[in-house]
Amino acid sequence: MKNAKGFTTKSIHHAQQADEKTGAVVPMLSLATTYKQDGINEPRGGFEYSRAQNPTRQQLEAVLAGLENAAYCNAFSSGLAALAGVMSLFEPGDHIVAGHDLYGGTVRYFNQVMSKYGLTFSYIDTTDVALVEAAITPKTKLIYLESPTNPMLSLTDIEAVARLAKQKNIKVAVDNTFMSPYLQNPLNLGADIVLHSSTKYLGGHSDIVGGAVMTQDKATFDKLFFNQKAVGAVPAPFDCWLLMRSVKTLSLRMERHCENAMAVAEFLDASRTGDAVEKVYYPGLASHPQHELAGRQAKGFGGIVTIDLGSRASVAEFIKHLEIFTFAESLGCVESLACYPWEMTHAAVPVEQRRKLGLTEGVVRLSIGIEEKEDLIAELEHAISFVAAKTASVSAS
Ligand SMILES: Cc1ncc(COP(=O)(O)O)c(C=O)c1O
Repeated sequence: MKNAKGFTTKSIHHAQQADEKTGAVVPMLSLATTYKQDGINEPRGGFEYSRAQNPTRQQLEAVLAGLENAAYCNAFSSGLAALAGVMSLFEPGDHIVAGHDLYGGTVRYFNQVMSKYGLTFSYIDTTDVALVEAAITPKTKLIYLESPTNPMLSLTDIEAVARLAKQKNIKVAVDNTFMSPYLQNPLNLGADIVLHSSTKYLGGHSDIVGGAVMTQDKATFDKLFFNQKAVGAVPAPFDCWLLMRSVKTLSLRMERHCENAMAVAEFLDASRTGDAVEKVYYPGLASHPQHELAGRQAKGFGGIVTIDLGSRASVAEFIKHLEIFTFAESLGCVESLACYPWEMTHAAVPVEQRRKLGLTEGVVRLSIGIEEKEDLIAELEHAISFVAAKTASVSAS
């Protein structure tokens, strides 16, 4: 699509022109696992076996590459499979500098899987570029970031880290799941690799588990293609097809997620009734320590709001009174979710590391959906009033 500049135009039309033969305006779903070959070593159109190449997956990869302004994309069967693909680019003995507030499954993969294969990791507060620089050793091959982080929503200056990494000949990978390509494009900020759990905003409807890696570098793409073929953690064609449908509304969903999250964060920040809500973390609040960077680096502040209710008992009380918010893992879908990172998504992160980040037993991560914000705020106000009443009765007794 040569003339498409707008994100939404691209998300609907890039690599999704009407089918040449039939005129179908929706991509074809190609379920074949194998392809007729015209002779020895003569596959038709490059397709041999669906683990290696599948037309629907190839089309999805072209669509997703377009959204991140990337030359290449490899789709995987989950966000963690995408991470495993990226880790396959490295060798035993390589050192990785990683953010200290990453998705718990990423930390689990680094500490309990990759460390067995000789990779070493230093977990650093990457919000401070000087600390990133200090952690680099002659063996460092990658700086691995989430910005904003899951679940504490702290930001790293991706451009500054990428500049430092270029000087030292180190690659930078950014997990862009929390922002989606609509809000932030790390490759434009100098990163080498972008990852997504497409289970989240890209899919958006809690019905696809998937992952993707985008890059401008053909050699990286080729190695990831080899990983797709050799390891086989590729998405099923129907999931690829569903994802192409989902990204057509990504911009609309993200606008609404951001609008709702801002309203919820402002409400929670202003309504610390009885101190029930001890802390509110949202990059859109002027009080967020990296509010200025958030405005500069991305087109919006995202759909996640993290709060601290002070204790596990308060969280248990809070979730008892939720109806619109579903108490569940995951994020980035049309329905609002509440999650308890301490015992759910981040249970695999060492306790001392969690405490250092402010990830306490009172933290709740809210994934703000696209429902009417008034309904969300009313429900939160209702649930918090029970937390406040309970806290007051405990302190009175
Ligand atoms: C930021 C982030 N990255 C990666 C993942 C892993 O993705 P998946 O669950 O699709 O494997 C998650 C899952 O919650 C996540 O939140």
